[in-house]
Amino acid sequence: MTKLILFFSLLANILLLIFLKKKKIKNFFYRKNINTVSIESINPIFKHKIINSETKFPSDSHVSKMILVHDKDYNVKGLISDYETWILSLMSKISLNIFEFGTCSGKTTYIMALNSPPQSKIKTITLNEDQTSKLVMNKGESKVAFKNIKNESSYNQFIFSNTDCENKIEISYENSMDLNIENLKNKYDLIFIDGGHTYSVIKNDSEKALQMVRKNGYIFWHDYIPGKTSTKDVCKYLNYLSKNINIFHIKDTNMCFYKKE
Ligand SMILES: C[S@@+](CC[C@H](N)C(=O)[O-])C[C@H]1O[C@@H](n2cnc3c(N)ncnc32)[C@H](O)[C@@H]1O
Repeated sequence: MTKLILFFSLLANILLLIFLKKKKIKNFFYRKNINTVSIESINPIFKHKIINSETKFPSDSHVSKMILVHDKDYNVKGLISDYETWILSLMSKISLNIFEFGTCSGKTTYIMALNSPPQSKIKTITLNEDQTSKLVMNKGESKVAFKNIKNESSYNQFIFSNTDCENKIEISYENSMDLNIENLKNKYDLIFIDGGHTYSVIKNDSEKALQMVRKNGYIFWHDYIPGKTSTKDVCKYLNYLSKNINIFHIKDTNMCFYKKE
């Protein structure tokens, strides 16, 4: 009897430990295949001011225009973190032609428009509710990612609508699978891939982006989160792609980037 009680209390403790350390255990099994680098490896614009051996300060180029969508009551979907937004805001400062796969509320589009040079142009594509009703899920793809596409394609007004920088932005309700890139090749300084997170869409968007980015231009991907169900197809594809091209994961973010040399 005592042995039985001991056995069950041990089992209960193990189960409790697994439950409490769920994230750490998951991360152990889903280790990142892609090397992690600091923001300073992306571009010189991220260089800090070195104050002494222990202290760094932000440099003047680190100042950017931001908005916070802090209040949960806003019900804004598909947000990227404020740190990730800031990274893209700095990249926008040095980008004349920008392309975004996946507009959603248009928060990142707005930040990129606010920080890019006055003559910059931003093209962003997204889906509406009608278009998503025609989508068909492919066998083996992430069901959660497919559900998220439907949930996030609900906007017909955007955070940048009726703002001063709206004229920089061209928004198109267009399935990226049908996007014709014939006139878009080698054009873009900055491409942000944050559209559908199913394998076929992430593969399509990445293959197109690789042709659309110009020499010395950058591609950023969002949602590289090994171990998370909704982003499993993003990780699977990026892990595969990173065997052929230099993709890096950015420290403290869910973003990866590639610079076309
Ligand atoms: C995660 S949200 C984008 C978030 C946005 N980039 C931001 O930073 O706020 C995903 C967006 O991708 C769009 N999307 C999903 N699949 C797409 C497809 N095949 N073609 C075009 N847009 C797509 C959805 O309509 C939605 O607007």
